[in-house]
Amino acid sequence: MTLNFGQILADQGGNFRPMTHDTQIVDALREASGYIHALRDSVLVVHLQAHRLDDDVGQRTIQDLVRLKQFGARIILVHGIKQALNQAVGDHTLLNGQRVSNDDILDHASNIENRAMQRVESIVSVSSSRHSLGRCSVVAGNWVTARPLGVIDGVDHLKTGVVRSIDKHALLSITEAGHIVQVGPVQYSITGDRYNIRTDDMAMEIAVAVGADKLVYLNETPNAERSTALSPATAEAMAKTTPSLAHQLQLAARAVRRGVGRVHLVSADDDGGLFNELLTRDGVGRLVSADRYEGLRKATLDDVGGIVNLIEPLEAAGQLVPRGRQAIEIDIDHYWIFERDGMVIACAALLPIGEKAYEIACVATHENYRGLGRAAALLEHLIEQTDGEDQVFALSTQTSSWFNEHGFVNCDPRTLPAERLARYDPKRGSKVLLLKRG
Ligand SMILES: CC(C)(COP(=O)(O)OP(=O)(O)OC[C@H]1O[C@@H](n2cnc3c(N)ncnc32)[C@H](O)[C@@H]1OP(=O)(O)O)[C@@H](O)C(=O)NCCC(=O)NCCS
Repeated sequence: MTLNFGQILADQGGNFRPMTHDTQIVDALREASGYIHALRDSVLVVHLQAHRLDDDVGQRTIQDLVRLKQFGARIILVHGIKQALNQAVGDHTLLNGQRVSNDDILDHASNIENRAMQRVESIVSVSSSRHSLGRCSVVAGNWVTARPLGVIDGVDHLKTGVVRSIDKHALLSITEAGHIVQVGPVQYSITGDRYNIRTDDMAMEIAVAVGADKLVYLNETPNAERSTALSPATAEAMAKTTPSLAHQLQLAARAVRRGVGRVHLVSADDDGGLFNELLTRDGVGRLVSADRYEGLRKATLDDVGGIVNLIEPLEAAGQLVPRGRQAIEIDIDHYWIFERDGMVIACAALLPIGEKAYEIACVATHENYRGLGRAAALLEHLIEQTDGEDQVFALSTQTSSWFNEHGFVNCDPRTLPAERLARYDPKRGSKVLLLKRG
């Protein structure tokens, strides 16, 4: 998906202005409709740095949040203040990522928070009236209870706090009533003292407490060239090599392990990034989830349509031998697929072709998802299903070197078991390949 979906919707007052070829818009809307439907009643916790509200992209992001709310999402917006506070008091007050907050810093934090909340109220009010988005209200309150962080490695963190508890019932009922909730870093303890809480941590705690479907960190790191889907373990491994995202990747892994559906890390610089991430299959950012988002699994009859959609163009181009829907239905128990958000993006079959002999067939990866090892993973998985004594064949006109690279050697077609040889079409001239064991 090359279309910038956010661009289409942004600032159009609800009317779509064609900015690109019509069919692209139609395709984008078709793809987005499923995601929009899934947003209904879903709980989204979004973390955004306060200084972003001063630029156009940040303001459009808030307008997009309003649109997501109109699609039925329940939104909790958490204001980060790290950059703004660094500007006000310097980053020397940070110790291992944690601010040491004295009264002066706490006052600055409070001012930045208040200003951010007022900015959001203003943007939402303008959006509601000017962009035909309907009435939308934002509310703030004391749903998070703080406690002091205390002394760490001999350093008293003074007025820096951590989350002690969260009133999830209040947060859920307010979002259910259709209001956007705003939460800032300055929160009260049970003794009425104010504390400055690190907000990316707080966003994670809120997401866990309310059982959020999604936690979105709109962050200061550019998106990677290709969007990535990570398991919690991979996110933790990536944290070690990506310092700018290390903490959020760790939080994402923790959130997913504690029950949050998906965590999205998206660049706050990306105009429309929120829409592109949440309303398209491929997204633009880094996704951490525990589900089978990119899972390899055995196919079922429900997957036949998806497999046919994937291989039909390849059959038409002569890259795969045409086999027809019925044949796939009959053999479906021998097919394995990679599925991504309900779409079959790669497939392969392990067909029995005689006594202790199999053919690896119908190996295909959708062109948007090639070169990432999916076909190799399928091949490896299918070979693992066979016995060390079994013969494993593959027939190919244009991909024999790929099989060679994966341990297959060319052989005479007459090596095929009799029942398969009888169906071998010499006119097609497929190369016959046999897996070399050991
Ligand atoms: C062949 C195919 C299945 C590979 O899918 P994939 O998921 O991209 O595979 P992988 O990521 O595991 O491997 C990619 C590598 O194979 C190489 N490759 C792709 N097609 C190839 C071909 N026809 N011959 C040789 N190598 C090929 C790629 O260049 C890439 O090499 P690199 O890793 O050095 O960059 C995919 O290109 C496809 O669907 N092709 C059309 C259908 C087809 O020919 N199927 C095989 C017949 S059964």
